[in-house]
Amino acid sequence: MNFTILRFDTLESTNTEALNQAKKGAAEGLCIVADRQTSGRGRHGRVWISEKDAGLYFSLILRPQIEMRFLPLITLMSAVAISETLKSLGLNPDIKWVNDIHINGKKICGVLAETTETVKGLSVVVGIGINLKSSNFPPEISEIATSFEAELGKICDKEILLEKLTHFLQTYYEILKNENGAEKIRLEWVARSSYAFGKSVKAVLENETIFGTTCGIEENGALRVETETGEIRVINAGDVENLRPQI
Ligand code: BTN
Repeated sequence: MNFTILRFDTLESTNTEALNQAKKGAAEGLCIVADRQTSGRGRHGRVWISEKDAGLYFSLILRPQIEMRFLPLITLMSAVAISETLKSLGLNPDIKWVNDIHINGKKICGVLAETTETVKGLSVVVGIGINLKSSNFPPEISEIATSFEAELGKICDKEILLEKLTHFLQTYYEILKNENGAEKIRLEWVARSSYAFGKSVKAVLENETIFGTTCGIEENGALRVETETGEIRVINAGDVENLRPQI
């Protein structure tokens, strides 16, 4: 896959732009980057605050030729690539299921993967937001979010971050597409996430809330949670929160 980077000063959302470009037939590997977003989107309809140069706002167009049942693994693959990127820049990341990246329990990066039908078949847009500065966090997220600035005392150069990110996305996407790729990505994810096993969690689903302990992931990346009654529940979508503070 060849990466082509299209840069913008301001966009509503890099994901919206990438979805539009994908619909028009843009090639796999097109990356949309903006200095600022006016309607940055998070998961579950949340807003992703995107002040100028306070973060990296990035969306990648993929046209994955993988079995449909493994499509959710694209988000796990992205989390692994981001984790490696941050590690290479001196941070110690953890992946919170399914694809939030945390440093010492605080979120530094979120991923929003969206699919669309296009003239060239199904496309997946992987949108990644990485916090560079903390100065623009509103009070309600300043306790739960972090940034390069907060962790390392300096902002990471955006171009270096972008170069490393595209490098690792390329590496792990190739792994996912090759033989036993799904299994390999699951193992890579499990190796980088404290949420894979033995984490006491609360999973907020559309119609219910489940309490239990994590016990691995399914072949499509869904999270397995053992409840107090010993039942194994499989979480495909929803928010999962750690119940116990880290020691
Ligand atoms: C989340 O954790 O809720 C996902 C956040 C994803 C934010 C990124 S920023 C670049 C891309 N464009 C968007 O509108 N959202 C994603």
